Amino acid sequence: RQPVDSPLYPLLNAAAEHYRQALKSHPQRKYAVEYLKGRGLTGEIARDFGLGFAPPGWDNLLKQLGGDALQQKVMIDAGLLIENAENGRRYDRFRDRIMFPIRDSRGRVIAFGGRVLGDDKPKYLNSPETPVFHKGQELYGLYEARKHNRDLDEIMVVEGYMDVIALAQQGLRNAVATLGTATSEEHLKRLFRIVPSVLFCFDGDAAGRNAAWRALESTLSSLQDGRRARFLFLPDGEDPDTLVRAEGTDAFRARINQHAQPLADYFFQQLSEEADPRSLEGKAHLVTLAAPLIDKIPGNNLRALMRQRLSEITGLSGEALSQVASSPRSPA
Ligand code: GTP
Ligand code: MN
Ligand code: MN
Ligand code: MN
Ligand code: MN
Repeated sequence: RQPVDSPLYPLLNAAAEHYRQALKSHPQRKYAVEYLKGRGLTGEIARDFGLGFAPPGWDNLLKQLGGDALQQKVMIDAGLLIENAENGRRYDRFRDRIMFPIRDSRGRVIAFGGRVLGDDKPKYLNSPETPVFHKGQELYGLYEARKHNRDLDEIMVVEGYMDVIALAQQGLRNAVATLGTATSEEHLKRLFRIVPSVLFCFDGDAAGRNAAWRALESTLSSLQDGRRARFLFLPDGEDPDTLVRAEGTDAFRARINQHAQPLADYFFQQLSEEADPRSLEGKAHLVTLAAPLIDKIPGNNLRALMRQRLSEITGLSGEALSQVASSPRSPA
């Protein structure tokens, strides 16, 4: 998936070190430190995640690491420098941001996310795709979570860097985030190689609810018997970061225990909102929506049980259902 060796790795590592140092000793570090403190983070957690600071200015990193033209070329390949197409000038991609190093499963820095300290746009800036960074495959925080606990039994998937870190700060060290992309089948395959259970916990807003359904769709094809996925929906306007800080670790854990919804429950609840099973037409539509999704489940027992539930909801016999499912789908 990733090159074993690449000149980008030592460079990205040196950049991470540069950003970390700046957070410790740059003359302008104060407001970065205040920002992190304001978000409830301690120095210990900042260290655990290797957080850093890209100070204001166009050439801090360039001056520090861009020794010669060849080196600068590698920095461009790594996404650290940008070259102006018209005049050929080179400058730092990340300026005046809190820096989050993104690591691969072996702990090597492969990219960065950078957050503005105020309300400027874009709020987050990520490294571009590079030979060592394919953002649709990576999970922020996975290396750190495994490093902290080699024996995880559940991984929580959240939307943002700050959600991962805020949860860790509160002692919930099993969260990972996709990097601004949808949760993919590839992500799920990776997660289920590590744990038998995945808990999705996205923001309590329309984007978060959409992300949950898409995550469900990506999960189905990984659901061997013995694996499970659950969904925790947050109150409107909250994300894991704001909520865990507001209510504390114990309450957040209790919320998970009481309200995390098994995939099958969420599945039928959501589809029943789209196709009202109180009418025959609704039942028919429900079968059309549900059957092809259920068919993706590789676990024989879970697939059979989901079909049985569909059967109970619609009154269509198991036999009739399997005919529906195996007949060719008509074009939309
Ligand atoms: P905070 O405001 O720091 O708490 O961020 P958040 O993680 O709560 O942000 P939000 O819920 O708005 O977005 C979720 C995730 O989407 C972020 O963590 C980023 O990965 C991504 N994202 C948000 N805004 C941007 C953006 O402006 N550009 C890019 N590339 N990604 C973004
Ligand atoms: Mn790619
Ligand atoms: Mn959001
Ligand atoms: Mn947030
Ligand atoms: Mn959010």
